[in-house]
Amino acid sequence: MCGIIGCIGRGGDTKETLLAGLKNLEYRGYDSAGIAFGGETVTVEKREGELENLRRQLETTEAFDGSLGIGHTRWSTHGPPSDRNSHPHMDEAGRVAVVHNGIIENYQALRDELRVEGVEFTSDTDSEVVPHLIARQLDAGKPPEEAFTAAVERLDGSYALAAVVEGEHAIFTARNDSPLVIGVDGDATFVASDVPAFLEYTRDVVYLENGEYAVLRPGNWTVFDGASPVEKVVKTVEWSPEQTGKSGYDHFMLKEIHEQPTALRQCLRGRVDEFGGRFSVDELDELERPDAVQFVACGTSYHAALYAAELLRDAGVPAQAYLASEYALGPAPITPDTLVVGVTQSGETADTLSALREASVRGARTLALTNVVGSTAARECDHALYIRAGPEIGVAATKTFSSQLVALNVLVERLTAATGVEQTRSLISALRELPEQVQQVLDDSKAADVVDEFGDGNAFFFIGRGLDFPVALEGALKFKEITYEHAEGFAAGELKHGPLALVTENTPVFAVVTGDDERAQKTIGNVKEVESRGAPVIAVTDGQSDVERYADAVLEIPRTTARTAAMLANVQLQLVAYHTAYELDRTIDKPRNLAKSVTVE
Ligand code: F6R
Repeated sequence: MCGIIGCIGRGGDTKETLLAGLKNLEYRGYDSAGIAFGGETVTVEKREGELENLRRQLETTEAFDGSLGIGHTRWSTHGPPSDRNSHPHMDEAGRVAVVHNGIIENYQALRDELRVEGVEFTSDTDSEVVPHLIARQLDAGKPPEEAFTAAVERLDGSYALAAVVEGEHAIFTARNDSPLVIGVDGDATFVASDVPAFLEYTRDVVYLENGEYAVLRPGNWTVFDGASPVEKVVKTVEWSPEQTGKSGYDHFMLKEIHEQPTALRQCLRGRVDEFGGRFSVDELDELERPDAVQFVACGTSYHAALYAAELLRDAGVPAQAYLASEYALGPAPITPDTLVVGVTQSGETADTLSALREASVRGARTLALTNVVGSTAARECDHALYIRAGPEIGVAATKTFSSQLVALNVLVERLTAATGVEQTRSLISALRELPEQVQQVLDDSKAADVVDEFGDGNAFFFIGRGLDFPVALEGALKFKEITYEHAEGFAAGELKHGPLALVTENTPVFAVVTGDDERAQKTIGNVKEVESRGAPVIAVTDGQSDVERYADAVLEIPRTTARTAAMLANVQLQLVAYHTAYELDRTIDKPRNLAKSVTVE
């Protein structure tokens, strides 16, 4: 996730303050960093890669004014990591520099408009339209503050923005759907995407709300909403600098579980044509409808692939999910109209890359569904669809899995578009409601109580059918990964073909039962089988069926569609795994023997 820091009133310490702020934001993950100094003139330095690259470059640069500046760590969403795509971005005359977090949905239309007026763009980013728009307003004679607000009014989408303008001893900021906070410390004022950026200087903060602007000048700051000033309350945060990399959470995994509502909104942003009742995804414009789809993936991503294959089969498209490590050496038959989709959050998993390369050699078209812009999978495949979850630091995949499921829904609809406008509209509305429902699960979950009561089992089983089956597999994988306890996921119907022999009163069974169709009823039959052998049953359910009658405990999720219910059930199981690992005092963010990106076969 990108990070912003800005400061004014730090005198000769401006450069070090900005670099320290960027360092404090490193935990969010980034692929490039940059700084703009403002004041009489505007100077920008930016570099791809580690912050150290920027620091080295700055050692050779004079900060012209030294009393104010803005900085940015970038996590690519539009255009690969590179010096030129890094922030800050400038207008052509070098009078304005801007840093931006978020996604500007109408950037293509604005780019086209500015191009017609003769603007030459120097990056692939959506953000670069902003300095050009501000410059246009300055050219029209507007004073800087008005030029900034007039430019921002042209933007659709999410943004946290900070800008400096030549000749102005000020930092201009605006916020919509992307966090921005001001820090105040006497004559020094800070602005950042996240409190940790400036926490070593001040704990007194002012949070900006959507639609608010702020102007920071030496020794003062003002917030306004459109034309009128807004009274803001200065709050004191209680965090210590050590806590803040995790925004107050004990672990990155828990933080990332809680980031899911934001990640899911981000995944859908700009991809829904509400009016037309369809998904519109620029990245997939060239993609033709395939005859068949094969998914290749590993681990958690394989579970996402199983879910997507089922959606496609339901829509009448032959589809299958394969473990990439098996597929690479024994691929399934392929025709030129087969699409092979590599599901890989990192885009660097060796097994998945091998499977995609094998598919490509055999003549299939390939698509990477990934979180990392410019990753090997994204570069090598014919198409790439980004899940936009933001960086994930915990080794256990959580928010990337949820974002994969949402992005796969978008992909499936884009590939089939056969289900009709009404069905697509109802899917759009279910996906729109999902972030709020995930929040509800996070707020109300009884997972910690369930862990208290059943967490000392000898082994833990997870069962489900249909779309709840990949969720059961994922629940078990997450559990074993971070608790080191024995956990297995099964298709509910398979229990009686072997695993039932393992079931005792010491093996809690998590049964994912959503909806109340034939599948749900059959799973309830399996619940009765384990219950009669004395196993404690924890039902993860939306309450539509009567599974609660046979369960020892219930983890509730809101009522919704089958597709989104599976995603909500998964959040409950993430929390079960987390709380169990916490009780067992495991190294949750870095489980033993595991790596975040598996680059060997
Ligand atoms: C589990 C986990 C792994 C990954 C797998 C594939 O929490 O993170 O199972 O899902 O190594 O990684 P990607 O998605 O990067 O290809």
